[in-house]
Amino acid sequence: DAVELGGHAHYMLKEIREQPETVTDACRGRLIRAEGTAHFGGLNLSPRQLRRVRRVVFAACGTSWHAAMVGEYLIERLADLPVEVEYASEFRYRNAPLDDRTLVFVLSQSGETADTLGALREARRRGHPTLAIVNTVGSTIAREADGGIYLHAGPEVGVASTKAFSAQVVVLAMLALHLGRLRHLSFPDGMAVLEAIESVPALMGEVLKTEAKIDEAAALMTQARNALYLGRDIHFPVALEGALKLKEISYLHAEGYPTAEMKHGPIALVDRETPCVFVAPKGSLHAKTLSNVEEVKARHGTIIGVGTEGDEGLASLSDIFLPIPEAPEVIQPLLAVVPLQLLAYHVARRRGCDIDKPRNLAKSVTVE
Ligand code: G6P
Repeated sequence: DAVELGGHAHYMLKEIREQPETVTDACRGRLIRAEGTAHFGGLNLSPRQLRRVRRVVFAACGTSWHAAMVGEYLIERLADLPVEVEYASEFRYRNAPLDDRTLVFVLSQSGETADTLGALREARRRGHPTLAIVNTVGSTIAREADGGIYLHAGPEVGVASTKAFSAQVVVLAMLALHLGRLRHLSFPDGMAVLEAIESVPALMGEVLKTEAKIDEAAALMTQARNALYLGRDIHFPVALEGALKLKEISYLHAEGYPTAEMKHGPIALVDRETPCVFVAPKGSLHAKTLSNVEEVKARHGTIIGVGTEGDEGLASLSDIFLPIPEAPEVIQPLLAVVPLQLLAYHVARRRGCDIDKPRNLAKSVTVE
């Protein structure tokens, strides 16, 4: 293990720190500058077939489901297509309508999750071609799908998924770019997305340098019993993922919620003992988010703000401010998730938890 760990205390930490390379590997050979687009060899669908698509369905479990949800926001924005994100365990037993203009994707790091495989088989049983976004080459899902995209993230050992999430999100950003460029997205707009994607590894590297500050935030959360993770728009799924990471490895209860929905329930939980993690980089809804942060502040909640470097507004409301570099909104989830992964890691470490093998969880759930 010591050799494999390469000096990192846990696989999860190693995999978090590897993410700039993970993103580079997931993008390799796929960004086409001359056309301001992205390209995938294994989709097995012609541009003509893809232009006919009117709807996209994603089915997945766990962290892969959260990545799919980021994909929903990206595809809506860049390709103007409706997207539905389904829990694979629900999708496989429902009569979800599928027509021949719906593109069905399953997403899975392992390619072996029983419910996700069940969703793929159910879509195929109905005569529907099914695509897979998978990490493990030659896995059952990869073999059974009609086409798909590999993540090239390398083996992920930590039970709590980290680098596979980033690989999935960047693949989905490229997929959204590809679908957008087959429709209305202009060359300059496509190029701006392409360049944003290319900038991710270096920007992720910047976020990784803030680990000591993130550990300070972890110290504030170690004694808590509940935590709220709040984000809106493209950061809502990031908040869900942050909460899941904390639950999985630190055994603290955490809930992810859309920031503005907080007033319809979760705000009742806020007191001095409840850390609230706001995922709020600068973007179109920033001012509205700040007023939600103020509501928590007025109730004496501990505020951990994940925001854009230099954002004095959020920083002054936060007990601890965790900066990410200024970046276009479409790539912000890839930067904002990193402090949340490290936060969960350091809370779990401080609480003495078994980080790479959390109780009751499996890396790959091959039973229903
Ligand atoms: C398990 C793992 C999670 C993972 C989920 C889906 O619950 O503990 O980390 O996100 O399965 O796995 P998959 O391999 O299909 O992405």
